[in-house]
Amino acid sequence: MNRLRDESLDFKGVPAGQGLHSIHPYPAMFHFLLVRKFLKELSSEGDLVLDPFCGSGVSAVEALLSGRNYVGYDINPLAVLIAKVRTTPIPTEKALKLLGLILKQEVKDYEVPNFPNIEYWFDEDVIEELAKLRAAIFSVEDDRLQNLFKVAFSETVRLVSKADLGEFKLVRAKKAKREDVKLLFEVIARRNIVRVSVLSKLPLKAFVEIQQLNVLEGLPLQDQSVDLLITSPPYGDSKTTVAYEQFSKLSIKWLGLDEGFKNHQLGAKEKSCEKALPSEELNECLEEIKRRDPKRAREVYSFYADLYRAIENISKKVQPGKHAVVVVGNRQVRGVELPTDKICVSFFRHFGFTHTATLVREISNKRMPSGTMKHEYVVILQKISIKF
Ligand SMILES: C[S@@+](CC[C@H](N)C(=O)[O-])C[C@H]1O[C@@H](n2cnc3c(N)ncnc32)[C@H](O)[C@@H]1O
Repeated sequence: MNRLRDESLDFKGVPAGQGLHSIHPYPAMFHFLLVRKFLKELSSEGDLVLDPFCGSGVSAVEALLSGRNYVGYDINPLAVLIAKVRTTPIPTEKALKLLGLILKQEVKDYEVPNFPNIEYWFDEDVIEELAKLRAAIFSVEDDRLQNLFKVAFSETVRLVSKADLGEFKLVRAKKAKREDVKLLFEVIARRNIVRVSVLSKLPLKAFVEIQQLNVLEGLPLQDQSVDLLITSPPYGDSKTTVAYEQFSKLSIKWLGLDEGFKNHQLGAKEKSCEKALPSEELNECLEEIKRRDPKRAREVYSFYADLYRAIENISKKVQPGKHAVVVVGNRQVRGVELPTDKICVSFFRHFGFTHTATLVREISNKRMPSGTMKHEYVVILQKISIKF
């Protein structure tokens, strides 16, 4: 299971997201050039591409732009909203006109969301401005446009909050921020309208379907229908790696989205380490972590038990002979490095794949929690062409 350092995948000097990909930030986004490269090399126009952990939809945008049909799932409703907005063409003139109306609207009837500590995260006048803006956005009838404004609103919420945006965990910033809510929303909404407008100018031939779904419960897709699986699962349980629910929390509260997903993310439910998973590397690491900290060993096991189940559900969907590209990061727990790339290879092998290569790239241009990972691993696999 050799790893190959591949500097050509570092994409030095190219930010991970630009254009459509820079509509709303999201943690641990794919580098769009990485997705573009593998879509080109391992799939053809008209093929079906699956990303079961699609996050903000980088793979969705790239599939759409390159004429691949696409199905994406994610458990986080904010991610699904962003991914939909990044891939939905809109009538530009109508969007600009509506934006003008939203900004001019004298909202008298509005509700302030009822969540604990709202005053800890927002100044009083900011809460009022946001509540009025939200009421105006919720009154937009066209779903595509309402979603577009909701995403701009969500980004505004982040920027006018007192949260430290340099952190994925939700913590208060040291310095106070002062922003004009309406002005900021206008700038973001205009910028996003321009970004999305490129979609209406292109002859889009492919379909894109994005759904909120817990992949642990199975995927509503025909078995052996996918031509390319390209995905990046979470790197560990969200308590100790990227806290997706904390990143999304304030936006989710303001948008009235369901927060229940946080209890169903990979690794969210603790399990006892009774049944060994089919990976020697994992089992050796678990033994070592258990010696140092049994509780952490249980948490680590719980994450990989879920990852294993997710891979079982996902791997069924891939056609024999076709490829999977899985991007992962390896983290340390109690001084033990967990080789998630190798663990994924073992799991995929268990479900009928062969390992083609693992390429190592540097992630200087990716938004990750500071000081955690410097490299990520691009694991390429192929489904064996005999029946399992
Ligand atoms: C590394 S991120 C993917 C980022 C994505 N590649 C992008 O470009 O934005 C992993 C994603 O897995 C999602 N996730 C975690 N548990 C899940 C589950 N049980 N079912 C579906 N998605 C899940 C998280 O919400 C997160 O968006």
